[in-house]
Amino acid sequence: MWKPSERIKYDVIATDWPTHSEISQSKLFSPIHIGPLSLEQRTWIPAMVPWRSNEEGEVTEDVLQWYRRFAQGKPGVLVVEATGIRDVPSGPLLRIGDDRYIEGLRKLVDCVREASQGQTRLLIQLIDFLPIRRRPDPIKYLERFLKITDQHRQHLGMTDCSDDQIRVRLAELDIEELEAALSAKEWEDRSFGNRQRVTDTHIPDIAALPETLPSLFADAALRAQVAGFDGVELHYAHAYTMASFLSATNSRSDGYGGDVQSRARLPLEVLQAVQDATEEQFAVGCRFLADEIVADGSGLEDACYFAQRFAEAGMDFLSLSRGGKFDDAKQPKVGWAAYPYTGRSGYECMPSYISDKQGPFGRNIDPVAEMRRRNRASGYQTPFVVAGGIYSYEQGEAVLQQDKADIIGFARQALADPDWFEKVRLGRGDEVRLCRYSNYCEGLDQKHKQVTCELWDREELDQAGVVKSHDGKRRLIAPDWNAA
Ligand SMILES: Cc1cc2nc3c(=O)[nH]c(=O)nc-3n(C[C@H](O)[C@H](O)[C@H](O)COP(=O)(O)O)c2cc1C
Ligand code: SF4
Repeated sequence: MWKPSERIKYDVIATDWPTHSEISQSKLFSPIHIGPLSLEQRTWIPAMVPWRSNEEGEVTEDVLQWYRRFAQGKPGVLVVEATGIRDVPSGPLLRIGDDRYIEGLRKLVDCVREASQGQTRLLIQLIDFLPIRRRPDPIKYLERFLKITDQHRQHLGMTDCSDDQIRVRLAELDIEELEAALSAKEWEDRSFGNRQRVTDTHIPDIAALPETLPSLFADAALRAQVAGFDGVELHYAHAYTMASFLSATNSRSDGYGGDVQSRARLPLEVLQAVQDATEEQFAVGCRFLADEIVADGSGLEDACYFAQRFAEAGMDFLSLSRGGKFDDAKQPKVGWAAYPYTGRSGYECMPSYISDKQGPFGRNIDPVAEMRRRNRASGYQTPFVVAGGIYSYEQGEAVLQQDKADIIGFARQALADPDWFEKVRLGRGDEVRLCRYSNYCEGLDQKHKQVTCELWDREELDQAGVVKSHDGKRRLIAPDWNAA
C-alpha cells in the first residue's frame, strides 16, 4: 500500500475510558433516528468484505459466524459487506441478484437479531461494479489479446502486413517504443488489465447503465426487505459504478456525466427506484466520498452538492468515506487484478499507522463536518455517518459533541474488537483490544483471502470448535469475551 513520504509512525493511545455512569450522559450511547429506524446508540460498523461467501455468492456458515460475532457487541448499526446486485459469478463475494438468495439472507438477519438481542439495526450494502480483468502476461497480450488495427500498421509503417506480422514486430520493440505504438487504453490493458469505465459508452451495456441500474438496485433492495433487513446502504463510494457516475472524471455526454447535476442524476434515479420498490419503514441511505483524492476527481465542493441533493431526495442517512479509487492504484502483478486501495486515494480510505503530520486518525472528520454544516444551514436534518481511524470513545464523543457528525463508524476497530461497544457501554473500556492500523486485514482483503485481525487470529488455535482459515493457520472469528 502507498504510504506518505514522511513515514511518521503513530501509536494508538489507550485513552481514558468512561465509567458506566458517564456513559449514561454520553451522546455516543444515546438514541437517534435514521429515517424510519430508531437506533439504540450512535455507533455503526461500516461494510467490510471478509471473503466468507462461496463462488455462488451465498450466505455460508462462515458468513453467519462472522456477523454473529459483530452482533454480540451490539453496535447501533451493522452494515453487511458490499453485496453484488447482479446475478453473475463474482468470486466469493456475497450476492443478492436473485430471489434464491433471500433464504440465506433471512438466516443472516435472524442470526444478527438473536445475537444482538434485537439491539442492532441491520443494513446491507448494495454494490454494482464493472468488469475488470487480471493483468495479462505481456507476451500473451501481444500474441492473443491485442486487437490489431490500422493505427498499429501506420505507426509501424507496415500497412500491407498481416496481423501476425504486426504482432511479431510489436513483440520486438523495446518498452518505450511499444508504449508509443499502442493507444493509451491498449497500454493500460497490457500493463494493468482491461477495466471497463462508465465512460466506455461504445460498449452497449455501459451505454445502457442508466436504464439497467435503477431496477437492478430496486430489485436487490426489495429482496433485502423481504429477507428482513432494516434497510440498505447504496454503495456510491470508492471505485465502483455509482461512484464513477458521481466522479468529476465522468465525461459521459448522454445527460449522465459532465457537470455536477448530470453526474448526480443516475444516483438520484437509483434512489428513487429503490424508494418506490420498498416500504416506508425500510431505511434507504448511501455511502459516498467526501473527496475522491485523485487528480481531476471530485472534491469537497462536489461532495457538498451531492449531500444536499441526496438529503433533498430523502436519503435516510449519508455515510461518508474517502478515496479508494482505481485511478491511482499501483500496477498489479501479472495474473492479479488492480486493487483500488494501493495508491494515495487508498491510503486516505484506510489510513495506516505509518502516516504524515496529520496522522491516521479521523482524517475524514473535518470534511464531513463541513458537509453536515452546509446541509443543516440549508435545513436538511439527514444524519451523517463518519468513519476513518476512529477507535476511542473520546474521539467519537468529541465528534458528536462538536456537532461534526451524527453517528460514528468503527470499521477496523470493530474487526480488532467486536465487543468494543459492549465493553465501553459497560464502563469496561480498558478491556478493549485497540486496532493498531497495521492494515494486515486490508492486505488479506487485497488477496481475496479470508479477512482476520492480527491481534487475535493466532490465539487459542487449539481450542475446541475454533473455525480456521483454509490454510489452517488462523482463526476466523475473534475469541469470545468473557464478560462475567
Ligand atoms: C477488510 C476491509 C473490507 C472493506 N470492505 C468495504 C466494503 O465492502 N464497503 C465499503 O464501503 N467499505 C469497505 N471497507 C472500508 C471500511 O468500511 C472503512 O471505510 C475503512 O476501513 C475506514 O474506516 P476505519 O478506519 O474505521 O477502518 C473495508 C475495509 C476493510 C479493512
Ligand atoms: S489487522 Fe487488526 S490491528 Fe491491523 S488494521 Fe486490521 S483490524 Fe486493525
